[in-house]
Amino acid sequence: MIRMYICVCNAISERQVQEAIAQGAGDLSDLQAQLGVATCCGQCAETATEYLPGGRYAAEVAATNAAQPQRTVEATLLSSVEVRRVA
Ligand code: FES
Repeated sequence: MIRMYICVCNAISERQVQEAIAQGAGDLSDLQAQLGVATCCGQCAETATEYLPGGRYAAEVAATNAAQPQRTVEATLLSSVEVRRVA
């Protein structure tokens, strides 16, 4: 799997941006609040905006989300590990 980063400062991937938009993020301030994208140097703001509705990559967001239905992951803790300090 190749991961493309949209926001290098905060290590936010294209996939994370696409998922946030699919879950209702509608503008850059939503992406900033949900992911932290464009909250450091701001160089990624224009690219992130292109994934929003009406943007250059908006069609890719729709196609990606249509091809990958929501998944549910269930996990069970089978054991715990006790950590002790050794003097
Ligand atoms: S690259 Fe996103 S804030 Fe710097």
